[in-house]
Amino acid sequence: MGEIASNKLLNTDALELFRLRFLSRNGLVQNLFGRLKEVEPEARKEMGQLLNGLKTSAEEAFATAKTRLESAKENSGTLGGIDLTLPGLPGALGSRHVLSLVQEQMLAVFRQIGFAVADGPEIEDDWHNFTALNFPPNHPARDMQDTFFVSRSGTEGDVVLRTHTSPVQIRVMQERQPPIRSLMPGRVYRNEAISARAHCLFHQIEGLYIDKGVSFVDLKETLYYFVRTFFGPGTEMRFRPSFFPFTEPSAEIDISCQICHGSGCNICKHTGWVEIGGSGMVHPNVLRNAGIDPDTYTGFAFGMGVERTAMLKYQIRDLRLFTENDVRFLRQFAAV
Ligand code: DAH
Repeated sequence: MGEIASNKLLNTDALELFRLRFLSRNGLVQNLFGRLKEVEPEARKEMGQLLNGLKTSAEEAFATAKTRLESAKENSGTLGGIDLTLPGLPGALGSRHVLSLVQEQMLAVFRQIGFAVADGPEIEDDWHNFTALNFPPNHPARDMQDTFFVSRSGTEGDVVLRTHTSPVQIRVMQERQPPIRSLMPGRVYRNEAISARAHCLFHQIEGLYIDKGVSFVDLKETLYYFVRTFFGPGTEMRFRPSFFPFTEPSAEIDISCQICHGSGCNICKHTGWVEIGGSGMVHPNVLRNAGIDPDTYTGFAFGMGVERTAMLKYQIRDLRLFTENDVRFLRQFAAV
């Protein structure tokens, strides 16, 4: 007996008709069983088997079609539970982080006057982070920077998360002889409590210029050029005498407050001035430690905070915004 095609039963009405016609008490199969007695006795057994086969096939066709129709009903209008008629979810487009953008803008200003970018490790040895930069062993100057130690084995053998980008100066000078005009951007780490004004992780851009006859005037002119190009021609800059072990003389760089323009706000602590970094003439000991003759060459260095610069440029009042990854904050810089 041929297969009964259950896939012809396309809806519940067709299924019910099928049931009434073949499988009900008055249906065809039952009717044929009733007429079995009309068959010759010798052929009755064979005919009985054929009728049983027909009955089984009809029942199977009914069950298969029923299951198929029921599952189609559960997913009605859908394909395996997916509704292809719903509108799609728009794919959100990311953008560069404001710190990457500001860092790139800062580098671009210095590239214009011949500075090239160099890179150094974030996990640094004590020698590059402190000793070569003229921090004496056990000198309180080491406490200026709250250091995260990776491993400690007595000052010179310590491994630290770099506390500033200045150790990259040493690596650049060890690699090549002057003239050197280098910018060294990167992440730095300090063991500080996180607040609106301090973070344990931030970014600096280090600058280094070494050649014959480089003077403090070159330092000042270079930084003036940067400040006016980056923040706008009306921006004021001033140097404040300071101390860093790796520069002599040393100066902190202040610019006129970009937020209140001198009228007084909490960012400039009502002074009208905000610090953007440190600078100075490279100490002869530092040149010597890095293999450069201080009798032939002089140079200047500076280090600026990227977060601080971004805060001033875009009037951001809380450092934590940079790392919280709130898209409402980040999205504002997509078009910058
Ligand atoms: N490394 C210093 C700091 O993180 C900043 C600095 C000051 C860098 C003076 C310099 C410099 O290159 O000359 O506080």
